[in-house]
Amino acid sequence: MEDEKALEFRALTSQWKQQVTDFFEELKDAGDYKYFHPHPLTAKEAEIRCNYAGNDIYYISVEGKQILGYGMLRGWDEGYEIPSLGIVIHQSARGIGLGKTFIHFLHVIARRKGAKRIRVKVYTENVVALKLYEGIGYKFHAAEEGQKIGFFNL
Ligand SMILES: CC(C)(COP(=O)(O)OP(=O)(O)OC[C@H]1O[C@@H](n2cnc3c(N)ncnc32)[C@H](O)[C@@H]1OP(=O)(O)O)[C@@H](O)C(=O)NCCC(=O)NCCS
Repeated sequence: MEDEKALEFRALTSQWKQQVTDFFEELKDAGDYKYFHPHPLTAKEAEIRCNYAGNDIYYISVEGKQILGYGMLRGWDEGYEIPSLGIVIHQSARGIGLGKTFIHFLHVIARRKGAKRIRVKVYTENVVALKLYEGIGYKFHAAEEGQKIGFFNL
């Protein structure tokens, strides 16, 4: 029998369009767009990401049909060797290690795709994310427009 509450990481596909649209809406309502805005959090963008076919990576963390987190590795499409990682965890699923686990999962994908380093951009006042990345071993080198740039050697 299928486990309706199974915890999984899933590649985004069109079957998730409605859930992703709702998830983006909830992120906006919670004010998360302030720290997480790789693209607008609109229904149109949800559709684009769910139908995306390319070299970049868009994944969700789900519990059954419920989305708990959204993560990505981008830059390959634009020809960069070092992908940029972005991640957001739903407010209701924070503080239990999902963000850290998701990042390590994305690192495995990056290694499988031959990447040697990962880049992140984090707002200087986003202390939770900075602590998380630094705890994993990211080194932050410089700041531009209020954001720190960090790298992790895979
Ligand atoms: C940053 C974010 C992804 C963390 O997700 P999370 O699942 O809550 O994080 P985890 O439970 O895996 O915690 C990992 C580490 O983060 C830090 N952390 C998590 N919650 C924290 C809190 N409330 N206060 C301080 N540090 C915290 C800790 O270092 C923790 O490590 P520890 O458990 O060994 O102490 C989540 O807060 C989020 O989605 N924020 C909004 C979007 C964002 O800022 N994204 C990152 C920029 S791309």
